[in-house]
Amino acid sequence: MYKSILILLLVLGIHTLEAQSRWTTAAEEKAITDLMAQMTLAEKVGQMTLFTSDWDQTGPTLREGYREDIKTGKVGAIFNAHTADYNRELQRISVEETRLGIPLIFGYDVVHGYRTIFPIPLGEAASWNVVSAQENARIAAREAASAGLHWTFAPMVDVARDARWGRVMEGAGEDVYLGQVMARARVKGFQGDDLADPFTVVACAKHFAAYGAAQAGRDYHTVDISERSLREIYLPPFKTALDAGVGTFMTSFNEVDGVPASGNHHLLTDILRNEWGFEGFVVTDYTSINEMIPHGIVANEAEAGELAANAGVDMDMQGAIYYNNLVDQVANDLVSLERVDEAVREILRIKYALGLFDDPYRYNDLERQRDNIFTADHIAAARAAARESLVLLKNDQQTLPLAKTIKKLAVIGPLAISQEDMLGAWHADGRGANCVSVLSGIQEALGKGAAVTYLPGVPVVGDDATGIPAAVAAAKLADAVIVVAGENWTMSGEAASRTDINLPGRQAELIRQLHATGTPVIVVLLNGRPLALTDIVDYADAILEAWYPGTAGGQAIADIVFGDYAPAGKLPITFPRSVGQIPIYYNMKNTGRPLDFANKYTSKYLDESNDPLFPFGFGLTYTTFSFGTPEATVEQSRDSVTISVSIDVTNTGKRAGREVVQLYIRDLVGSVTRPVRELKAFQLVDLAAGERQTVQFSLTAEDLSFLRRDMSWGMEPGAFDIFIGNDSRATQRVSVVIE
Ligand code: NOJ
Repeated sequence: MYKSILILLLVLGIHTLEAQSRWTTAAEEKAITDLMAQMTLAEKVGQMTLFTSDWDQTGPTLREGYREDIKTGKVGAIFNAHTADYNRELQRISVEETRLGIPLIFGYDVVHGYRTIFPIPLGEAASWNVVSAQENARIAAREAASAGLHWTFAPMVDVARDARWGRVMEGAGEDVYLGQVMARARVKGFQGDDLADPFTVVACAKHFAAYGAAQAGRDYHTVDISERSLREIYLPPFKTALDAGVGTFMTSFNEVDGVPASGNHHLLTDILRNEWGFEGFVVTDYTSINEMIPHGIVANEAEAGELAANAGVDMDMQGAIYYNNLVDQVANDLVSLERVDEAVREILRIKYALGLFDDPYRYNDLERQRDNIFTADHIAAARAAARESLVLLKNDQQTLPLAKTIKKLAVIGPLAISQEDMLGAWHADGRGANCVSVLSGIQEALGKGAAVTYLPGVPVVGDDATGIPAAVAAAKLADAVIVVAGENWTMSGEAASRTDINLPGRQAELIRQLHATGTPVIVVLLNGRPLALTDIVDYADAILEAWYPGTAGGQAIADIVFGDYAPAGKLPITFPRSVGQIPIYYNMKNTGRPLDFANKYTSKYLDESNDPLFPFGFGLTYTTFSFGTPEATVEQSRDSVTISVSIDVTNTGKRAGREVVQLYIRDLVGSVTRPVRELKAFQLVDLAAGERQTVQFSLTAEDLSFLRRDMSWGMEPGAFDIFIGNDSRATQRVSVVIE
């Protein structure tokens, strides 16, 4: 008898444990169960509804009357509303005026900073510095959480290999591994160790999935890729975000294998929940349930809601599809109550984890807001991050750094005085007025000693070349000319695809004419995508890729231009010679007819090289490094493989510098073809002039694994080449054989 009671208790105990989640304690789970028992179906659907406020618009529609919806419990989450007091008032309505008083969760696109703006994520990825990426996200979270926010729609972890796609600026670029390590750093930075810490926010891995594979780089366009590419290239950063503990996922706008992501059971349930065990909730992207009608997979909104709910979407962003249809769909047995309950439970768990049931106003403190936003520390971090994100693409005759003793400097281009363009897209509450322009950064660095002349030259877009003669005249009188060129910040980001990735307007012509003066020409680029720089590369003495560097961008650029800091960034994405080479990325397959100039019938173009202008991983600094001969030893047992690789790296130049030592592998023969290079590890190495360091790497079976022909994940025995160097063309090689 006692024994059976004990067994029963044990079973019950285990059962209670099972009901817990990574986000909640047993007591909280019970509170959620009790709360849900009191909720009407309409109130449950309310928790599954997210509306934008009228504060900011980040999509095609705006709703009126969302305050009324809060009051009636028809909405459980709000986005595009921020600041401690504004959100406090909305929270008050939800907590004090609704029947059950369930707190709202407030989301916003805090992608690279809230008010203190860090470089765009593509630029941050160019630092290859996961420690600072995590720190930057931590600061962004601290500011956001002080401004009444609980949830950021970041990180964007879409692998992006098409420079035409405006959203390449939002992620970590083209590579799977770099994408994974950046995803981990950003999730950890935003969420910290504990969501209950009121200085953290819950992160959102987006856009699930394969949004970056939009055909022809046109935003929202069709995606058609194999299950193998999906799993090997596009999904791993999401899996890493999940392993790092990300609390929410956002669906993408695109279809995957004929089914839009927001109605894709294979993605949202088979893979995300069942295979990966995701605990947290899935939100759609903006009106993407509604968009399944034009996609042509459902005939009306009711069907769209049914498809989304049954696929595994927990929260409907802005589309009001659940709001208008879900109660009926449940009543008609088209969506089960269990599915709704599951979604609501996931959402309430995150609200618990954020501490909102303890104190719904814990993120709404005016003093906290005053003390934690745009602080001197945060601005200093933004400057450091911006410096690390800059990539020196060319530096003939050591044109850079310029001596601060320079007498006359011409600064050309309207981007040089633009504060707004330092921000880049998705700049949350970042303000142009708070940014240091390139010209101001230069003037600050030079002080009163030098004569700095600014002229606009040509506008960024348009055909007006009338300013060129004056710019040329100024260049003739100057000791050096800095041309700030590129794209306006609105030319990348969402809904900002381009077919032409050359420098827009007459900027290339301006640069060529400035070069003809014989004065050294330094081109500083502001842009959110790889540009085809073929037209100007021979007409610039130095080229510094500055992306959109954020709040302290002007100072960071000056730090590098005048040598207070040595550039260390490396391209996280390939820069093509021309748009016709796209898609172009380093870890391509070899083909059966790899390039051979002596043979017409090999894989190449008649009118263009196969090589990019600047490869993935590339970036110069003010010193040089040499690489010794790599050595590798393999230790193999029945169930593990360790490859220890070492290489000597020497700073062969005259000043200190940082090298990003990159390790690539090639699996020579596989049951399916393997890329010619795969980045598997890298290390940031800071060396004084003349200093040498032995850099060690350790690879495991996981690093050699891939989706084999039978779709199982694992390694195959055989020969592997390992390449180490300072970009994806690395030539230092060592080969190993795995048995
Ligand atoms: C649409 C974008 O695709 C997504 O990234 C963003 O988070 C939402 N709008 C909300 O602004």
